[in-house]
Amino acid sequence: MAGDKSISHRALMLAAATAGTSTIGQPNRGEDVLATRDAIIALGAQVEDRGELFVVHGGSLRNPAATIDAKNSGTTTRLLLGLCAGHGITATFDGDASLRRRPMERVARPLRTIGAHVETSAGKLPATVRGISAPPGGEFTLEIASAQIKSAILLANLDAQASVRITGDAHSRDHTERMLRRFGRTLRFDGRTIELEPGKLGAADIRVPGDLSGAAFFLAAAAITPGSDVVLREVGVNPTRTGILDALRAMGADIDVANERELDGEPVADIRARYRPLVATTLDGDLVVRTIDEVTILAVAAAHARGTSRVRGAADLRGKESDRLATIAQTLRACGIDVVEYPDGLDITGGGARVPDRILRTHEDHRIAMAIAALAAPTGPHDIDDAACIAISFPDFVPLWHGAQVSAR
Ligand code: S3P
Repeated sequence: MAGDKSISHRALMLAAATAGTSTIGQPNRGEDVLATRDAIIALGAQVEDRGELFVVHGGSLRNPAATIDAKNSGTTTRLLLGLCAGHGITATFDGDASLRRRPMERVARPLRTIGAHVETSAGKLPATVRGISAPPGGEFTLEIASAQIKSAILLANLDAQASVRITGDAHSRDHTERMLRRFGRTLRFDGRTIELEPGKLGAADIRVPGDLSGAAFFLAAAAITPGSDVVLREVGVNPTRTGILDALRAMGADIDVANERELDGEPVADIRARYRPLVATTLDGDLVVRTIDEVTILAVAAAHARGTSRVRGAADLRGKESDRLATIAQTLRACGIDVVEYPDGLDITGGGARVPDRILRTHEDHRIAMAIAALAAPTGPHDIDDAACIAISFPDFVPLWHGAQVSAR
């Protein structure tokens, strides 16, 4: 399984901000994480890339000589805008056509409140940050439950002299908080407020768990394909990410989580999924936040379930790598599935998926490409227009998929 993408980004960034040498084992090696690797090098970190291990010599952040190209990666952009904002760095960020369509004011606004200058291009990229070096700390309220915004605020305040308190989160992924503890910081969360105490970072050696967001395609494909039985080992099961397991179980899926343990501050487990007929479910509220990157694969499971599944409260999906409500609806309809689209969700009536005689579009979105592979598992292969985008998060997906003998091409 690929290493967790979110955790790999954070480990690289905190290692870059920390004096001394940190190591990151089994990192995700998708294009997004490599964009972060290259960005921290541009920001003054030295990185020895040994494939399965990054060795990072950090603690001497400086202005980059050129615009940072974050490629397709929202996490690279938003988190590093935060890091620069609180470390006196001036940097311009840009990205590919998809990233240039995504909203950046949501992160620029809180960074301006600490005194940093952030200029976006009508709310989007390119964006330039002129950071300050003595952030004041203090109170922040999140305008949306977004781990990227929360993390940008934390990274902007690493050198704050006073505590930082963040409220308004609805259980978005807490990898930054956990990683900060691994780098020696004191951080509390009482269920409502995150509090980071002033302090210094200490170098760390981190091993990255398998990525549940990548595993989800295998688990859902097994759940909908008669005869399947798949086991994935050492996969992250952080409760802020396990919405997909809860949702699949609510659909009647046969999913076992075994051998739960901790790996460098993150819960991991071995997950087994076996075929069993599924029934429709409803995904809304906090469960959407905990399933934010898995709604496409959940929609595929819904397409093979009995009854009408409902997704609501998921408007933020329209601002991801593609407008994921629209692109997954289009994909499922092309396979004969009845889908009704709402501003913040979908109704999907399962059953009767059939292989279309035309090429399906990935919309250059890695998660749509992998969702189509899973959709095809029980019905026969579909051709897609662009398998290359899968390398954004999961470069070894195709060989692993063949190895799992799930039907794919
Ligand atoms: C991520 C947070 C999520 C998620 C994205 C990765 C992260 O975005 O969709 O793929 O690593 O912090 P939001 O926090 O904006 O919801």
